[in-house]
Amino acid sequence: MTRRSILVGTGSALPRTRVSNDELAKRVDTSDEWIVERTGIRFRHIAEADETTGTLAADAARHALAAAGLVPADIGLIIVATATPDNTFPATATKVQALIGAPDCIAFDVAAVCSGFLYALSVADSMLRTGAAKHALVIGSETFSRILDWEDRGTCVLFGDGAGAVVLSAEEVADDRGILATRLHAEGQYGDMLYVDGGPSTTGTVGHVRMQGREVFRHAVTNLAAVLGEVLADVGLSAADIDWVVPHQANKRIIDATAKKLGLPAERVVLTVDQHANTSAASVPLALDLAVRDGRIRRGDLVVLEAMGGGFTWGAAVLRV
Ligand SMILES: CC(C)(COP(=O)(O)OP(=O)(O)OC[C@H]1O[C@@H](n2cnc3c(N)ncnc32)[C@H](O)[C@@H]1OP(=O)(O)O)[C@@H](O)C(=O)NCCC(=O)NCCS
Repeated sequence: MTRRSILVGTGSALPRTRVSNDELAKRVDTSDEWIVERTGIRFRHIAEADETTGTLAADAARHALAAAGLVPADIGLIIVATATPDNTFPATATKVQALIGAPDCIAFDVAAVCSGFLYALSVADSMLRTGAAKHALVIGSETFSRILDWEDRGTCVLFGDGAGAVVLSAEEVADDRGILATRLHAEGQYGDMLYVDGGPSTTGTVGHVRMQGREVFRHAVTNLAAVLGEVLADVGLSAADIDWVVPHQANKRIIDATAKKLGLPAERVVLTVDQHANTSAASVPLALDLAVRDGRIRRGDLVVLEAMGGGFTWGAAVLRV
């Protein structure tokens, strides 16, 4: 028997307001045609004042708990991956804890931007396997709309708000269910290619997203294909064994190019970027939840998750659901 982290529930939450490319083009110098052609994005959800990273995370967490058949008191660990916390501190994870009514447990945030969910998943997996908790909530939640420069058409059309959550349970298993491997990377020398130009210790402001789009694109395809190869090699499997890839939903062209590099057919790639745009740390768990709920991802499937983001940071995970 092996102690593994088993995926027992997924959930997600989106802000009420959905904005199409045409609606965006009324206030930004852009067009539906340009956005769709370069990114595959058609819609994004934008948070209203009463919708925050914390409230969206709590809603996603409630759905994931219900899917898992668990209650907040069962949870021993809450990790929120976010680059847009409600406050500099306390951690948004403690806000989620209070909102869902979970009693004393471990709760903290992880900051790895778009790969934050992969980082959080890997940390939670390690903590569950070493006995820190029995059940964990791992959440990616963002309100990137709050840190976009709406005058910068090269970035503001790319992002949206939302949250996704999973419940992981530590179980002794005799089969190959659960998280089988995770891989994480960071190369801080590329920090100025995708960053926010503010922060508590530098400018004392929140700042806005800045990006060298072409460079990010190039690194993303190379790094994501490499880390997928690594994580599959860790478990002795190949691309042909994968039932579903749930990639970070930044850009359809990055997703297509990465899948092509690995020889993965498009039918096995979950794509939601058209509906949600890039929701940063929320994108992988949000896409995962949709594919579980619409019946694409079923029990027994081999699923691979991957993401790349500011830092640069990137990572991948392989699990049998
Ligand atoms: C951002 C991205 C779509 C831009 O595409 P690109 O082909 O590199 O385009 P460029 O930035 O070179 O700009 C090309 C032209 O489109 C224009 N343009 C930029 N944004 C535009 C917009 N929203 N609408 C219309 N035109 C736009 C530019 O001004 C430029 O015009 P010019 O040729 O007259 O100077 C692309 O680089 C990309 O997807 N990068 C990865 C971004 C990403 O996924 N980041 C998150 C990773 S976690």
